[in-house]
Amino acid sequence: MRISVIGCGYLGAVHAACMAKLGHEVVGIDVDERKISELQAGRAPFFEPGLPELLDEVLATGRLKFSSSMADANGADVHFLCVGTPQRKGEYAADLKYVDAAFASLLDSVEPGNVVVGKSTVPVGTASRLADELAERHPEAVLAWNPEFLREGFAVKDTLTPDRFVYGIPAGEAGEKATAALDEVYQTPLSMGTRRLTADYATAELVKAAANSFLATKISFINAMAEVCEVTGADVTILADAIGLDDRIGRKFLNAGVGFGGGCLPKDIRAFMARAGELGADQALTFLKEVDDINVRRRLRAVELTRDLVGGSLLGKRITVLGAAFKPNSDDVRDSPALSIAAQLQLQGADVTVTDPEAIEGARRRFPEIAYEADLTAAMSGADALLLLTEWDEYKNLTPEVAAKAVGSKNILDGRNVIDPATWRAAGWNYKGIGRP
Ligand code: UGA
Repeated sequence: MRISVIGCGYLGAVHAACMAKLGHEVVGIDVDERKISELQAGRAPFFEPGLPELLDEVLATGRLKFSSSMADANGADVHFLCVGTPQRKGEYAADLKYVDAAFASLLDSVEPGNVVVGKSTVPVGTASRLADELAERHPEAVLAWNPEFLREGFAVKDTLTPDRFVYGIPAGEAGEKATAALDEVYQTPLSMGTRRLTADYATAELVKAAANSFLATKISFINAMAEVCEVTGADVTILADAIGLDDRIGRKFLNAGVGFGGGCLPKDIRAFMARAGELGADQALTFLKEVDDINVRRRLRAVELTRDLVGGSLLGKRITVLGAAFKPNSDDVRDSPALSIAAQLQLQGADVTVTDPEAIEGARRRFPEIAYEADLTAAMSGADALLLLTEWDEYKNLTPEVAAKAVGSKNILDGRNVIDPATWRAAGWNYKGIGRP
């Protein structure tokens, strides 16, 4: 099929490359010319394992092109809308300015029989509004809403072989047409058994909001348990293993620590609360405010634990933060717990150095006042405390003996509960974890 992908950020760039991999003729379009020239040259504008290789492979076939001109969407059968929906400044609600602008501009390229497919995470009700706008200009085109569930760090795999496809479609013949087009787009994964569910627009939009809310709730649940463990001397990691063995609960997303961050979970639960409020259903989601609060509290707690670790005052203490990205295998620092803790410590008078295998550049742009050091040993040099806040393999695999040679004092906060307390303590370290004795 001929496909256009509007927006070449995380979602769009990966989607465009994966659609070409599935055999389609794809053009990826973005207003950011720098991003487009990077992608044209086969360079991913962000760190995502497997994406550079995939770009090389599909660019070589000639099936994938990138452009900064919306006119290049002309002639496509299916147009995917993949632009971002960030949190509005000073509000909880999602900012739809990129969706609205991209959609308005795409309308000039839509032809009768085309299917426009929204993939961006939008407040419920957006698809039906856009469907009305589409029907006004192009009565013979159809809109579908097909939310994306990819995780950063696994984006290629999640796009090529997702857990499920959800198609939000209109009733009747138009819906059948949209379903047939999407089935053709996703023929390869569907033939391998990926489940596909069809729904009305509102349900499809809500599936995405509900999925991310559930994941955020699971993380905050275990972090709330960590708070209780901290005042009782219990161990949240054993608690998580034990409750996780009940397959109604499951062990995934039950890792207590400094909490969730990134460009999705935090802003999606807030946008969901804001939308529910607009719809008069705010009570249904007040628990998400608690989920958010628990998450924010974890960051404050990490600052307190660090203060304790270095003897009660942060003033002038050399703190080395291992990890800046919001999670490993990503260079994304949006709402990163690690970086927000580092900034808070710096603000309270500590002398903070942050290291990360991939995210230093982005972190420096966001918090230029913090010191950054790419080399792990140099970063740890003379530290009064190490804070492991993003569980990259190189930090998980760090040994207490190697770290001891670099630091000034043997203090470590394991903000992700990924190193063994017994091993570190046996080597003479003062170890603190999250929700564990
Ligand atoms: C999340 C969802 O997992 C995807 O399914 C969804 O498509 C995506 O948002 C999106 O809406 O686009 P992502 O933001 O890549 O994906 O990150 P996750 O792997 O969900 O991790 C989110 C945060 O939770 C990270 O900061 C991670 O460190 C934290 N986390 C995760 C925990 O603190 N504990 C856990 O047990 C799991």
